[in-house]
Amino acid sequence: MRAFHGHDTMPTDTLAARRNTDRPDALAAAWVFGYGSLIYKADFPYLERRPARIRGWARRFWQGSHDHRGTPQAPGRVVTLVAEPDAVCAGMAYLVTPDVFRHLDHREKNGYLRQATELCFGDGGRAQGLVYIAGADNAAFLGPAPEREIARHIAAASGPSGSNRDYLLQLAAALRELGEHDPHVAGIEAHLLALEDDAPRAP
Ligand code: BEZ
Repeated sequence: MRAFHGHDTMPTDTLAARRNTDRPDALAAAWVFGYGSLIYKADFPYLERRPARIRGWARRFWQGSHDHRGTPQAPGRVVTLVAEPDAVCAGMAYLVTPDVFRHLDHREKNGYLRQATELCFGDGGRAQGLVYIAGADNAAFLGPAPEREIARHIAAASGPSGSNRDYLLQLAAALRELGEHDPHVAGIEAHLLALEDDAPRAP
């Protein structure tokens, strides 16, 4: 959100310039970048929703899920971000009020911390935002494994939020809908579908 100071030039369209500042709840709003289930499922109110990308982070199914797509006894595998200098991660950005961060902090309490990042929008615009990342030092972190092994793991897991399989397939579909290709997600999805094709069916 931009404020105009004495030395700035006021744009001729003051209605447009005021669009954000005349919404009281927008005064404290911030962008949150979603790269997992947040892409397709926003269970919170938002002021704006825009496809976006962040640089320097790669999406990986390296985080254990004890409370959504698995259980403490049999954790599922969900996405986190891993620092990779040349990587670009595509997702969805939401402009939200601070109460939404309280909601997300609670929803994503299984290892995720907020971190500042720069968002790049499709029209070339940029903004500072926050993203939830589960680092290698959290107790639920599972780390890398071959994609076929990750697919086997996901095929077998489920938790209070549903099957781990549906989480993967919904994420893969949401990325396709955005016109984005993530080789890691697409590779695991292909393995999972192949495993299901190979599985013996009930007579
Ligand atoms: C997301 O869907 O982007 C997300 C992933 C982990 C924690 C919070 C949000």
